[in-house]
Amino acid sequence: MGLILLIAAFLFTYDSNPQVELVASEEIDIESWDSQDLILNNSKADALVKTGYLLVAESAKHLGPLAENPEHRYAGNHLSCTNCHLNGGTLSGSASWLGITERFPQFRGRENKIGSIEERINGCMERSMNGTKLPENSNQMNAIVAYMKWIDKGLPKLNSKVIQGYPAIEIPKVAVDLVQGKEIYQRECTLCHGAEGKGIKNQDGSESYLYPPLWGEDSYNDGAGMHRVLTAAAFIKNNMPYLQASWDNPKLSDEEAFHVAGYINSFQRPEKQNKTADFPDKKLKPVSTAYGPWTDDFSAEQHKYGPFPPIIAYYQTTFGLRKTK
Ligand code: HEC
Ligand code: HEC
Repeated sequence: MGLILLIAAFLFTYDSNPQVELVASEEIDIESWDSQDLILNNSKADALVKTGYLLVAESAKHLGPLAENPEHRYAGNHLSCTNCHLNGGTLSGSASWLGITERFPQFRGRENKIGSIEERINGCMERSMNGTKLPENSNQMNAIVAYMKWIDKGLPKLNSKVIQGYPAIEIPKVAVDLVQGKEIYQRECTLCHGAEGKGIKNQDGSESYLYPPLWGEDSYNDGAGMHRVLTAAAFIKNNMPYLQASWDNPKLSDEEAFHVAGYINSFQRPEKQNKTADFPDKKLKPVSTAYGPWTDDFSAEQHKYGPFPPIIAYYQTTFGLRKTK
């Protein structure tokens, strides 16, 4: 109901204000991204697209624990999708959604089948958002997919480079060093994410985050992509510290990103149920998946913290598989 009112509010407010013009015709960096101008006040974006934007950018309020209607509380934590998919999912190097709907359906190792965009979104719902699936034909799912389709065409030339996922890092030869990871964390991350990784909430009493948590019970769960050290390292190198690092101008070295990624993932977080069912074909499991079973004899410790090159070499020689994560 809250959502329907919102849609009505947007229809009313913004269609009567058609002189707002799209400003994006060139690259928009993280500091000049303005969702009001680009999306919410943009007369070229329809109500469904605007709803989709609110769902991904204010997720806790519209599909999480803060949703007025208890039936709309699908996400289990107070994160927003856009805490990881930056600038409304448009920023190069943060697993941007530009062109995403054209890349699906695609083969997914985690399920060992061809998966749809809806199933991929639900992958992040159940893991990154520590929640439950959105029904595939729900208004919420339709709005999110409509938004993803629209950013591609509706915000032309938004970013100079469409990068799938994250630009790769060179995989360190060493294991994660948690002492170094902690030092890097204290130097580069504590300011915003806090010494205890709890993040910082908005001051409006809404329980939503200004700076999202990196571990603890309100974070992504242990089945999430961000819980894999190599995936987290690639995200961090290309995007953090926030406003300082970007894919074409990172701040941390590959190895620093790797140690700090291991550090944030060394703490307690929610547990995903039934993880053993992931990757029905176990040899397709990414090497830094911290939970078993695996088709190799490397320890759980090594799958979590590395060193990864020996595991990668094993899959290359035994199965002819070239693993990058
Ligand atoms: C200046 C503040 C700031 C600093 C410093 C900073 N971050 Fe962030 N971080 C953010 C913000 C803000 C977001 C969410 C971005 C958004 O919503 O647009 C974020 C998102 C994240 C996320 C994904 C969301 C989540 O909660 O899991 C991770 C992981 C992360 N940061 C790790 C780090 C690490 C590691 C460092 C240090 C190397 C770091 N950050 C430094 C502000 C910061
Ligand atoms: C804690 C961080 C985090 C949050 C929150 C999150 N995701 Fe993700 N998402 C990821 C990671 C990590 C990947 C995999 C990126 C990679 O390895 O290429 C991913 C991948 C995706 C992909 C596929 C991208 C591609 O290029 O194939 C889609 C679509 C997606 N997420 C949608 C969502 C939606 C919608 C939400 C909110 C309901 C969400 N995500 C919340 C971390 C997150």
